[in-house]
Amino acid sequence: MTDFPPLQNDLLLRAARREPVERTPVWIMRQAGRYLPEYRALRADEAFFDVVRTPELATEVTLQPLRRFPLDAAIIFSDILVVPQALGLRVEMIPGRGPYFPDPLRTVEDLRRLRRPDVREALHYMLEAITMTRKALAGRVPLIGFCGAPWTLMAYMVEGGGSKTFARAKGWLYRQPEASHRLLSLLTDVLVEFLIAQIDAGAQVVQVFDSWAGVLSPDLFRTFALPYLRRIGEEVGKARPEVPRIVFARGAHASLAELADAGYDVVGLDWTIDPRQARKLTGGRVALQGNLDPCALYAEPETIRRLTHRMLEAFGPRGHIANLGHGLHPDHNPEHVRAFVEAVHDYVPVASE
Ligand code: CP3
Repeated sequence: MTDFPPLQNDLLLRAARREPVERTPVWIMRQAGRYLPEYRALRADEAFFDVVRTPELATEVTLQPLRRFPLDAAIIFSDILVVPQALGLRVEMIPGRGPYFPDPLRTVEDLRRLRRPDVREALHYMLEAITMTRKALAGRVPLIGFCGAPWTLMAYMVEGGGSKTFARAKGWLYRQPEASHRLLSLLTDVLVEFLIAQIDAGAQVVQVFDSWAGVLSPDLFRTFALPYLRRIGEEVGKARPEVPRIVFARGAHASLAELADAGYDVVGLDWTIDPRQARKLTGGRVALQGNLDPCALYAEPETIRRLTHRMLEAFGPRGHIANLGHGLHPDHNPEHVRAFVEAVHDYVPVASE
């Protein structure tokens, strides 16, 4: 492991542990991305996965939003789909359409095409990008590593790309539960290793994205998503207990109470749940992250400020990491992103809290 400069801003780490903070920390999912002209300029000459696979470029893109806004964390620029690639599937990023798998998993026999990779070798480029970014940050703010959750990765690997319903992937869960569990279990083994390797490379917090948890019924979620999320939370926590873990299972409110006991320090929320209700359901066992509606950033800056302050009041000052309820959109105005970040900075808690 490398020696890194001391951390100057540990608000995010303290909030994740529900320790007192002078101010709520803030970062934003997809804070590096197409809403930034400097990102679009860099992407004009480079394919998406070339940026991801070139540590110098991934580091540059990771730092872009931090040059503009006083964010309290950086998140390494990469993608959740690097793991299916490491297992042997081809994934392309089609401009304007999103991810595309030319040969997705169609039948159970296709599972034989997957190989268990040597994570530190197959995903070396991301680990190197993490170390490079951590050095470039020079202790300014913590660096977040991440991965996709087993169910969300399976959904893309079976579907072959994005989908409104993920009906094909859900068909596997109903028709081939045993093969589904085998695939989810393989993914879990790899993801545990991957997150530990990211921590060893320099990640100071890790987040698991279960972006498509919301297409599952509560039953399917408890059978095919939660046990694997739990295994990741617990095994990574056991191996590297000092590094906070965040789980973001979009649309999984029905299982919020169980998520609060799944081995994570922080539960991320999308914008469809009321912060006070989420506090009740999670009973102070975890910190919460979120959850302003990304579309609220289409409002005027003064409105963004008011909505952000109202959200901060609803979460309360302890154990909260401010974020949106999902990622930024390509047509978001960077000045409105600034309004959100600055509103978190200048919020003064109401006297009673
Ligand atoms: O948050 C960050 O700034 C870090 C970087 C990051 C990206 N993807 C960059 C990216 C992270 C954390 C992700 C995670 C990711 N990737 C998720 C989970 C989070 C979520 O959004 O629910 C998912 C589901 C993916 C898969 C993925 N990658 C999709 C569906 C797309 C297409 C999105 C679109 O609107 O076209 C991507 C591409 C992608 N990943 C882009 C970025 C900046 C845009 C690609 C481009 O530059 O053309």
